[in-house]
Amino acid sequence: MAVIVCPKCAKKHKVNVEAFKENTPSGKTLAARCKSCGNRFPVRIDYLLAQDNIKQGGKQSRARKICITLSKGGVGKTTTSVNLAAGLALAGHKVLLVDTDTQGQSSYILGKKPKAGLTELLTKELAPEETIVRARKNLWLLGGGKSLAGVKRIIDRKSFGAEWTLSEVMTELDHKYDFILIDTSPGWDQLIVNVLFYATEVLVPVALEAMPLHGLSEFMKSLGSIQKYRKEIELKYIVPTFLDTRVKGPQTIFSELKRLYPNFVCEPIRYSESLSEAPSYGKTIFEYAPGCTASADYRSLVKRVTQDEKALP
Ligand SMILES: Nc1ncnc2c1ncn2[C@@H]1O[C@H](COP(=O)(O)OP(=O)(O)OP(=O)(O)O)[C@@H](O)[C@H]1O
Ligand SMILES: [Mg+2]
Repeated sequence: MAVIVCPKCAKKHKVNVEAFKENTPSGKTLAARCKSCGNRFPVRIDYLLAQDNIKQGGKQSRARKICITLSKGGVGKTTTSVNLAAGLALAGHKVLLVDTDTQGQSSYILGKKPKAGLTELLTKELAPEETIVRARKNLWLLGGGKSLAGVKRIIDRKSFGAEWTLSEVMTELDHKYDFILIDTSPGWDQLIVNVLFYATEVLVPVALEAMPLHGLSEFMKSLGSIQKYRKEIELKYIVPTFLDTRVKGPQTIFSELKRLYPNFVCEPIRYSESLSEAPSYGKTIFEYAPGCTASADYRSLVKRVTQDEKALP
């Protein structure tokens, strides 16, 4: 089942996708007619299939889709996306890391310069397999970068269904992976809304520095407004980052976080120079400093996410 909204009168209509799933090729556009106002408008079949796939819990897709997001900048979203993705890959899972940020940092950290990425996938300039690069054993990358700014404008101009644009293009890909991790940019824009309409789990990194709880509660409100339309998305993990064990302040904030969100708070990622050094060598923390505290902390996060104590000994 999928829902389409008439672009003229905003009436919502349920569509039984099963009726034409088998016979209609993807990429095709169907002509819809609003039963309420009579308006005729085009509906892309991929748009309906993406909704249907997600509503069924992604039956064809075995991938867990985890987005790493918080509007506040510099809290460790990219560092966590890359190192969690690398850790899951080392633990033997097939992982796709999707960078939805114009900064394109994920490719840089992994030491890759992909010629194409999410932009070409979203604009359908290239076939999906041509937009993905293999970054490590078990780890693939769908790179972000500056060109995503233009794509955001295209999404903004869509008259309806804009929030499903990412889901539409990802449906063809996601059955190939065990985990799809999606890094987001700071702030709040149409691409982040798209990510929240595609992913099913949210991981929020919270820097244990000044005023982290304010940023978190603001984000919870935004997530709540998405959940009204997208029931499948849920907060799963709050990952405290930049824990400086030498001073008392961050420990106090960590305790407060645990009190407020006992079910979601994970073991913290400690402050570590190695984490800020590793990107300039194009290395993950497991490659650059496998024995450091941050490497141990990201291994714990892999265990928590996979619920496997034996993952990454
Ligand atoms: N635990 C840590 N200890 C020390 N430095 C860290 C830690 N985590 C991240 N960093 C460094 O802090 C900076 C910001 O981290 P990162 O880029 O992951 O944040 P972000 O949330 O993705 O930022 P943005 O919002 O700009 O995308 C980077 O230089 C990174 O190397
Ligand atoms: Mg980032």
